[in-house]
Amino acid sequence: MLVEKNVPLQSYNTFGIVAKALSLVRLTNEADVNAMLNDPALKAAPKFILGGGSNIVITGDVKPLVLKIEIMGKRLVSETAKAFVVEAGAGENWHELVAWTLDNGFPGLENLAMIPGSVGASPVQNIGAYGVELQDRFESLDAIDLQTGQTFTLNAAQCAFGYRDSVFKHASSSATDGGPGFGLAGRALITRVRFALPKVWKPVLGYADLDRKIAQMGEVPTTPQQIFEWICAIRRAKLPDPAVIGNAGSFFKNPTVSVEQCADIIEREPKIVHYRMDDGSVKLAAGWLIDACGWKGKSVGNAAVYDRQALVLVNKGGSQNPVTGGEVMTLAKAIQTSVYERFGILLEPEPVVV
Ligand code: EPU
Repeated sequence: MLVEKNVPLQSYNTFGIVAKALSLVRLTNEADVNAMLNDPALKAAPKFILGGGSNIVITGDVKPLVLKIEIMGKRLVSETAKAFVVEAGAGENWHELVAWTLDNGFPGLENLAMIPGSVGASPVQNIGAYGVELQDRFESLDAIDLQTGQTFTLNAAQCAFGYRDSVFKHASSSATDGGPGFGLAGRALITRVRFALPKVWKPVLGYADLDRKIAQMGEVPTTPQQIFEWICAIRRAKLPDPAVIGNAGSFFKNPTVSVEQCADIIEREPKIVHYRMDDGSVKLAAGWLIDACGWKGKSVGNAAVYDRQALVLVNKGGSQNPVTGGEVMTLAKAIQTSVYERFGILLEPEPVVV
């Protein structure tokens, strides 16, 4: 097994931060994972799993062994009465999978078009956009236990999906950072993910941006392809393309508060954007909170708040003069402080800080 040394990571993270992996292995299939785990030195090394690099902030050279997931493949594996079951390798690009499913007549992922990142990272984050979350289309996944080398399969319930959350984000009881926990963070390496895509397709509309697009176009979309194209257009208009301006998507989660807390905030801030959730809680738009504190366009070094969506932090120095992880985190902390001081709400960052 080839262990590469001092590998530049700038093109492996969507912020475009410059850093090195002190050692890195590329895993292209399950046999590579097993070979790595059969090497006593590699098995014992602390590890960092790198997918599409679209949800990380790198704050220095990465010392743990970087596992670069390059497991590919997209195929229809089975059909039930209600669904096509499509499987994709963890290393596949998410957006390319969405486009491929639509080209092959398997609808259902169109609202999730253009989300940066890899297939393997999609269940970790339970990615979501425009009224659809990964958990709505998830069938099962295969993973390998990095401690025992065993392969296992998890269904949706076992993944414990929540808003931008899953079992893969929580510490395991054997984690060195002090469990006890029932999670699989740092322990499960996701190899393949299967999606159940509905044979009887219904569009998921009703999200504010989509409704605006319907009004603007003067028609309701009738095919998955049309929704796909509209979502791509909506995202291009308000979110920066990481290939042009480095970023990691939404930098903070949308916070939830109780009805009472929300009523209290509304009294002081009548314009606050909020949504009632099914469980009775209220979700606040973090982008609105940050915007209301006047952060749009502000920067720390080369880390800036995107001027069209305050929830997105960007690398304004490009690849020539790139942002550092330290600048991103300093800006993020300043935003957290000002939102906390005005609204009493602590924003929780989405990306993993390495
Ligand atoms: N808003 C502002 N100012 C801003 C940004 C937003 O006032 O600078 C307001 C908007 O006007 C809107 C509300 O905040 O009323 C919500 O904004 P938006 O519809 O853009 O969605 P979001 O809550 O900011 C979430 C996801 C995105 C996903 C979109 C669309 C999170 C953390 N983010 O953003 O996901 O694409 O909804 O469904 O849940 C990601 O996670 O990386 C991501 C891009």
